[in-house]
Amino acid sequence: MAKIRILVVDDIAETRDNVKRLLYFEPDMEVAGEAENGEAAVRMAEKLLPDIVLMDINMPVLDGISATEQIAMSVPGAGIIIMSVQGEQEYLKKAMIAGAREYMIKPFSSDELAQTVRRVYDFEKKRKIQLISNEKGVRSRKEPKIITMFSTKGGVGKTTLGTNLAVSLARETGGKVALVDLDLQFGDVAVMLNVVPKRTITELIQEINNLDADILETFLVSHPSGIRILPAPTRPEYAELITASHVEKILSLLKVNYDYIVVDTPAFFQETNLTALDMCDQILLLISLELPAIKNVKLSMEVLESLHHKGKIKLILNRSSNDMGIKYPDVERSLGFLVAAHIPSDGRVVVNSVNKGVPFVLSDSNTKVAQAVRDLAKLVIDDSGHQEELRQKKKGLIGRLFG
Ligand SMILES: Nc1ncnc2c1ncn2[C@@H]1O[C@H](COP(=O)(O)OP(=O)(O)OP(=O)(O)O)[C@@H](O)[C@H]1O
Ligand SMILES: [Mg+2]
Repeated sequence: MAKIRILVVDDIAETRDNVKRLLYFEPDMEVAGEAENGEAAVRMAEKLLPDIVLMDINMPVLDGISATEQIAMSVPGAGIIIMSVQGEQEYLKKAMIAGAREYMIKPFSSDELAQTVRRVYDFEKKRKIQLISNEKGVRSRKEPKIITMFSTKGGVGKTTLGTNLAVSLARETGGKVALVDLDLQFGDVAVMLNVVPKRTITELIQEINNLDADILETFLVSHPSGIRILPAPTRPEYAELITASHVEKILSLLKVNYDYIVVDTPAFFQETNLTALDMCDQILLLISLELPAIKNVKLSMEVLESLHHKGKIKLILNRSSNDMGIKYPDVERSLGFLVAAHIPSDGRVVVNSVNKGVPFVLSDSNTKVAQAVRDLAKLVIDDSGHQEELRQKKKGLIGRLFG
């Protein structure tokens, strides 16, 4: 099998040697070359056509961000991973805009490095396949999917997981992802992703009669990760201008150009998010291990069942932990529904990421919480496999209930 070919770029020879040592025992990787500054890196990348470039930021002659920008243009197949020291995190956004795929904070372990390299390599491979089929004019696209983040208890993590899930879906599939903020009064998707919207859904609905998929594009804000965002109104009082039929039109038009549409919602049933619940393919119903959240989720499930949406629900346990007093199997029993995914609690990583405005699947991609969101993305992508798995588990649950 062909090995993943890596170019290591750092101005300090010792750091390059360390990186090489970390990769030495990985059977599927080889260091194809090294460079000591950005300019040499660009030259080497054009000559070697590596699969992966491991790039330092602060270097003489040409810095890592500028080199990333040039390599992303001249060697588009190379996946660039930035290596930086703590405290340079404000560079992340610049690096992503320049075309980097991931970001690692030094020092890192050989496991972290190898995992990140493989992830970026897989992503680039998928992206190439997507590009080739687009060029051939083959719409290899599967049916677009709408995913609604939902809970009737506030603060359980809809926006946090929705933003990170959207970015993960884009990375896992190489497809196009839109994120719609339907928390119309207090939506904070734009803040969590640190984008400044020039226009929002409020301006968009003024064009609703002329709206088509191309005009809709002009209202979306780009995020450095590649996803596009439709932000919520800037003021709560504008929320009531937006109706269910507006939402219906917007979501239908997004399906023309996007593979995945993630919808964030407020923590209550209202006309606009009922439309999203109607139109979506999957409802990620969030729950945490707190009594009020559990009581609420029971009621939401009854409502969703009466709306015939129960088949679309995936129950997601956020801030999962073993020492909460309530055990999740008890919750599953009381709801008669199995938890599809567990997202661990990680206050440090999550709060830091929210405050920086950078999704943790990008800034802390090797943490457990980021891995859990990537697994959730895979579950969303491969819905069919999941249904079968749940059916099997459900047999077990019914056995436990009545056995
Ligand atoms: N897995 C997690 N570990 C630690 N903290 C988390 C986790 N998920 C969410 N949080 C924190 O919980 C708080 C609420 O999250 P978030 O805003 O995403 O919830 P929400 O459901 O969108 O809330 P609202 O209903 O108000 O829109 C945030 O401060 C966030 O940092
Ligand atoms: Mg929210």
